[in-house]
Amino acid sequence: MAGIYVHIPFCKKRCSYCDFHFSTTFSKYRSQLIDAICLELALRKNELNNESIETIYFGGGTPSLLKSEELSQILNAIRSNYLVSTGLEMTFEVNPEDATEDNLINWKKQGINRLSIGLQSFQESDLNWMNRSHTLQQGTDAVRLAQVHGFTNISIDLIYGLPGLANEQWMEHLERGLSLNVQHISSYCLTIEPKTALLNHVQKGVLERPSEDQQSEQFEIMVSVLQKSGFEQYEISNFAKDEHYAKHNSAYWNLTKYIGVGPSAHSFNGIERRWNIANNTKYYQQVGNNDHWFEAEVLSVAAQWNECFLTGLRTKWGVSQDKIQGFGGFHPTEKRQLESYLSDGLMCEEEGFYSLTEKGKLQADGISASFFRLD
Ligand SMILES: C[S@@+](CC[C@H](N)C(=O)[O-])C[C@H]1O[C@@H](n2cnc3c(N)ncnc32)[C@H](O)[C@@H]1O
Ligand code: SF4
Repeated sequence: MAGIYVHIPFCKKRCSYCDFHFSTTFSKYRSQLIDAICLELALRKNELNNESIETIYFGGGTPSLLKSEELSQILNAIRSNYLVSTGLEMTFEVNPEDATEDNLINWKKQGINRLSIGLQSFQESDLNWMNRSHTLQQGTDAVRLAQVHGFTNISIDLIYGLPGLANEQWMEHLERGLSLNVQHISSYCLTIEPKTALLNHVQKGVLERPSEDQQSEQFEIMVSVLQKSGFEQYEISNFAKDEHYAKHNSAYWNLTKYIGVGPSAHSFNGIERRWNIANNTKYYQQVGNNDHWFEAEVLSVAAQWNECFLTGLRTKWGVSQDKIQGFGGFHPTEKRQLESYLSDGLMCEEEGFYSLTEKGKLQADGISASFFRLD
């Protein structure tokens, strides 16, 4: 079982908080870039040893900016070079203004069966300071139109811990998200990234820096509101109704193999992590010349152990005792640490797995880090 991630590094506008890899001036070279993505897929066809592709994820940037023929070109490159499973999950990240009738019909026809729609906030003023390219109305219309066109696996993205967002308003955002009857909600706490317009606004006092206490309160509100409405928190920031887990993301968290194509995309083959150059022009030129367009690092045993805790403890499944045994088991200090978490009610042990309790999830990063090993 394996997955493919395709990074589409195009955006209409620069959202003030975003530091993902994308460009807003891509029209001159878009066809070269799509050709390079297809060439990279072909060049790497033997890396997965004919394992079947169970998930494909188009992320970005803005995959919903792809033209119909660009999407089919990429899908042809995947289908002609890889063994694609019949039960494939194919996710497309969508910016609301792109969810037009024609696009939705085309995406469905091309086999996309899961949409991740970036709503971000239910307050128009937030969408303005975020510099989003859609209105509130376009956000909710996108979800409704996708449902009309038969998409039955829809996720929405919301951000909490926003400047000036009161807890009552956050509760309202969650209620409005729930009223859309989606199957999945991903919600991350706002991070103020270096070199973003948001950091500049906060430093100049144009926007208020959200307090950590308020962000923690909003995390707790989110867990409680979503759980009461039948959403299962299967990963710290991801909630699913009726087991509509994101298969592709779950595979990342289980450390399953995947290849990532496109500028800045990451790959993992079980022991080595690899990341592509985060520069569009260099990417398509270097792929075109088959000239080293990536860097790679073989994970040390300590790094593999650390990832196992970092990703595993964020999920409801936790870390299996078998996996821990595979590393030769806990060291005595780690064992003592584990026992104190178990007795303090921060972790629990069930059917051969260690996971975080509700209380433990509030300190997820700190608890995982306390198990980290040095090389
Ligand atoms: C990079 S975007 C790509 C998808 C699409 N272009 C969009 O904007 O919805 C993926 C998600 O990352 C989240 N995100 C990006 N930057 C973030 C930040 N600084 N803090 C919290 N969440 C962020 C947003 O929720 C966004 O939907
Ligand atoms: S949040 Fe999405 S649309 Fe906005 S700049 Fe980042 S990738 Fe592009």
